[in-house]
Amino acid sequence: MSDHNSTEEVLRLEGICKRYNIGKPTEVEVLHGLDLSLRRSDFTALVGASGSGKSTLLNIVGLLDRPTSGELFLLGEPTREMEEARRTALRGDAIGFVFQFHHLIQAFTALENVLMPLMVRQGKPTEEQLERARGLLAQVGLAGKEHRKPDQLSGGQQQRVAVARALVNRPALLLADEPTGNLDSQSAAEVFELFREFNQRFGCAVLLVTHDPRMSEHCARTITLADGYIESDNITGIR
Ligand SMILES: Nc1ncnc2c1ncn2[C@@H]1O[C@H](COP(=O)(O)OP(=O)(O)O)[C@@H](O)[C@H]1O
Ligand SMILES: [Mg+2]
Repeated sequence: MSDHNSTEEVLRLEGICKRYNIGKPTEVEVLHGLDLSLRRSDFTALVGASGSGKSTLLNIVGLLDRPTSGELFLLGEPTREMEEARRTALRGDAIGFVFQFHHLIQAFTALENVLMPLMVRQGKPTEEQLERARGLLAQVGLAGKEHRKPDQLSGGQQQRVAVARALVNRPALLLADEPTGNLDSQSAAEVFELFREFNQRFGCAVLLVTHDPRMSEHCARTITLADGYIESDNITGIR
């Protein structure tokens, strides 16, 4: 067993509103007072029509953007008024991201890309961290390809490097926006299994935007956004 408490609250949203273009004729509110709590054991799909606010919400939860009003607690800490340097540090410690497009650094090898989040924080990685990074690459099917640059890997392989990079810090919260959109079924299934393993072994809460029913039907919780409101929040599996 790992040392986390699976009921620990990782994320809490209280009355999160988001407006764009404030003070302009085009001002628009796209999130209308969302309340939500995620605990470590939660493996959650975030679904909803295009334009319903999923990416806006993910950017706020990932501390890449701030809500217009409301509060967001990450591991118990209120973040809305937190200064940017502390938000950046908290993001690096607590959150792993997988975007639809992987944003790998072309000059770096697969292994160096995976180690990036650790190197940004502390410089040279330890032997244990190197082993962890190699292990993650092996788990996503890239053993023996550690020293390839992104342009020597297929699109699916590059996305799997990005998945390993998101997990190398053992984040408390994994955010993924359509992470398997560009993957074949086999690769998508492997990535999904890796998320599940991190959820179970390390208590990494998962919030996964997906249109893929093969993924959402295996999530224990499904939150549906509609026009900037939470339309439903269904817990169907073991929590
Ligand atoms: N930077 C922005 N400025 C103005 N409106 C935006 C901006 N980003 C998103 N929106 C609007 O917010 C709404 C939600 O968008 P988004 O969060 O991207 O939805 P989803 O990811 O569910 O497709 C949409 O109506 C979109 O047009
Ligand atoms: Mg989106």
